[in-house]
Amino acid sequence: MLTSIRGALRNNNFAALLRGPKRPPGPNAALITESVGLYTNPEVMHQNASQSGDMTYYRMFVWPIYQLNHPDHVRHVLQEKARIYSKRTIDYRLLRRLGGEGLLTSEGELWKKQRRMIQPLFSRQHVEDLGPMMLECTENMLDRWRAKKDPAQSIDIVEEMTRLTLHIVGRALFDLDLLGASNEVGAAFETASKELMLLGPVEIVWSGAPTPRNKRIRQSTAKLHHIVTSMIDERRKDILRAPNKPRRDLVSLLLQARDEETQEPMSHAQIRDELLTMMIAGHETTANTLSWTLYLLSKHPKIAHYLQQDCRAHLQGRAPLVSDLPAIPLLSMVIQEAMRLYPPAWALTRRAEEDDEIDGYTIPAGSTVVISPFSTHRHPGFWKDPGRFDPTRFFPETEKQRHRFAYFPFGGGQRMCIGKGFAMLEAQLILAMLMQHVEVNVPAHHYAEPEALITLRPKGELPATLRWLD
Ligand code: HEM
Repeated sequence: MLTSIRGALRNNNFAALLRGPKRPPGPNAALITESVGLYTNPEVMHQNASQSGDMTYYRMFVWPIYQLNHPDHVRHVLQEKARIYSKRTIDYRLLRRLGGEGLLTSEGELWKKQRRMIQPLFSRQHVEDLGPMMLECTENMLDRWRAKKDPAQSIDIVEEMTRLTLHIVGRALFDLDLLGASNEVGAAFETASKELMLLGPVEIVWSGAPTPRNKRIRQSTAKLHHIVTSMIDERRKDILRAPNKPRRDLVSLLLQARDEETQEPMSHAQIRDELLTMMIAGHETTANTLSWTLYLLSKHPKIAHYLQQDCRAHLQGRAPLVSDLPAIPLLSMVIQEAMRLYPPAWALTRRAEEDDEIDGYTIPAGSTVVISPFSTHRHPGFWKDPGRFDPTRFFPETEKQRHRFAYFPFGGGQRMCIGKGFAMLEAQLILAMLMQHVEVNVPAHHYAEPEALITLRPKGELPATLRWLD
């Protein structure tokens, strides 16, 4: 803001100064609860976009928010002008309470250094080598389902997918079986993420405020820190016991890393933050994607039937290989369409560090900009009949004609999700396995309401019955 005042004075543009920055239209929230609703509810964000157009302005408490809905604006913030848009926003400040300064939240030199170091673990070859392990974890879940005493008893899809993806991320990145800890991790993470969304202005600004909610967040975080610290300690001992054993997991990579200049090892807090970040970022998002995919397939039996036929015709009952996936394109098309309608990362926020201008509107330095995949993925200028579940939107020819930033479930630019290839491979392999062996049926009367916590997931339980195909 100061820079815009200085700019106006320098240019003798006093009229502009008196008028103040040109603001886009937007809703006026009379009550604090209303203003929070504008910022924390994807459906309301989408409504804002439908009513105000490609840019919406409102305030949450005292903070000015610019919601950008057009794909050009998304490209502007995530790619073209990424340099002036930081993660110093309320949301990232809250996330830091959970994951500290891990890859998702860190910035500048620390982020660059850590991303360069961790990137090789997400190379295409490395991720593809994890395929058999992903299938083994899925087999394990199917065996458990088969062994249920009462086959008519329904399962909770969200809970099952969360366990499965935590199992997979634990084995892939930590070389550990986290199944035993999955309830504890799940509960601590759920408490923390629910409470974080309910914080009041004082608790947001002052994390040490002695309120019951802050206390519950601190307790859940401490539990997660304890779990991760024991993992680190175990691996440290293991490395001391067998220093020459080849290791390809993230815990060993971080423990053995040395600073290029000082040769210092990474601090315990940094290693803990990186691991916790991966644990959080690497399982809930994929679990939600799979849950929404199964829900949508259950509500669209014709599409489920096509997919089932494709998988069975191609695989003939055997487990899928990574090399099978290109021959069953409907798998990734269905998953992508589910992420269009229900993007797990439903809103991304940035802080303008310098004054900026978008579409003739001033974005003063210090403002928060919000880009919402949930809303842009429904932009009528880029999606025909946007509310309809239609995986054919992801035919490669159709995709090529679309604006690159009309669809961005994994973000974009240099801060694009590091786990994109991992998540897509995992989701396709799991779905292929399920399609071959079992039909997961959500009751016809059940409507899954989206609940926007840190990620977008079905509210409450997502019940389903199983019908075995073999
Ligand atoms: C369907 C699953 C997933 C979705 C939808 C998703 C979505 C995203 C999005 C939108 C971002 C960018 C956030 C921003 O720019 O503000 C991101 C970043 C990130 N994701 Fe994912 N993610 C998924 C799976 C994963 C997995 C499996 C991992 C790790 C195993 C992971 C780790 C990360 C990390 C570490 C970052 C920060 C990257 C950086 O800034 O350098 N994600 N993710």
